[in-house]
Amino acid sequence: MQIIEVADPAEAAAFAADLIEEHAPRVLGAATGATPEPLYRLLVARQRLAPTTTVCLLDEYIGLPVGHRQRYRHVIEAQLVNPLGLTVVAPDVDAIDPTAACRRYEDALVELGGIDLQILGIGRNGHIGFNEPGTSFDTVTHVVELAATTRADNARCFDGLSGVPTHAITQGIANIRRAKRIVLIAFGRRKANAVSAMLGGPVSTASPASALRDHRDLVVIADREALTQRNIIQSHSFGTA
Ligand code: F6R
Repeated sequence: MQIIEVADPAEAAAFAADLIEEHAPRVLGAATGATPEPLYRLLVARQRLAPTTTVCLLDEYIGLPVGHRQRYRHVIEAQLVNPLGLTVVAPDVDAIDPTAACRRYEDALVELGGIDLQILGIGRNGHIGFNEPGTSFDTVTHVVELAATTRADNARCFDGLSGVPTHAITQGIANIRRAKRIVLIAFGRRKANAVSAMLGGPVSTASPASALRDHRDLVVIADREALTQRNIIQSHSFGTA
């Protein structure tokens, strides 16, 4: 694992964009949320991603009407896919049988040959994708009930908490671990506990992101605030940098 401390989101975006362009992923896994937005803006401004790139959603809410501004497919299309003329692949959250939709998404990922590079954020509770604490590390794409903290954190994007869906489809931790490269980005003190648990706490389902610690090609890009607790934990566990 490589840990890159950056000054701010702009520096994180520049580092991550360089890395992504250098590796030129054929299949790019894309998280949604506030964290990767500066990165997507920069990738669009630079126009260096090949138009043959396929972007796979990491997760998607269930229950939002088609056209809702918070449908992650819509967000990723607007922020990344359409401006660069890329192709997007997403789970079918409108399917009558969401479990069958998960299986079809798995098939699509296999057909694509897997994710070459996965961009991740991290939840305050340590979730990656919508894999909430307690999720087994061998899960593949599945339907998840969102944790109360996740719904509360995402309420800012809706008209209050009651508008936040209760369920989503997410790639599982096994999918994320299978990605050939992972770039996880975290900013701010509110992510510090999650980042410290990921980097130096026990590898445990209590910290879904800790499942990535033994990944062979993981880059964590974080600002000083998100890394504040890292040294405390590392000093009595193990070094990760
Ligand atoms: C979104 C996703 C989530 C977010 C996480 C952080 O597709 O998979 O795991 O990455 O909740 O969200 P932000 O970046 O909004 O703090």
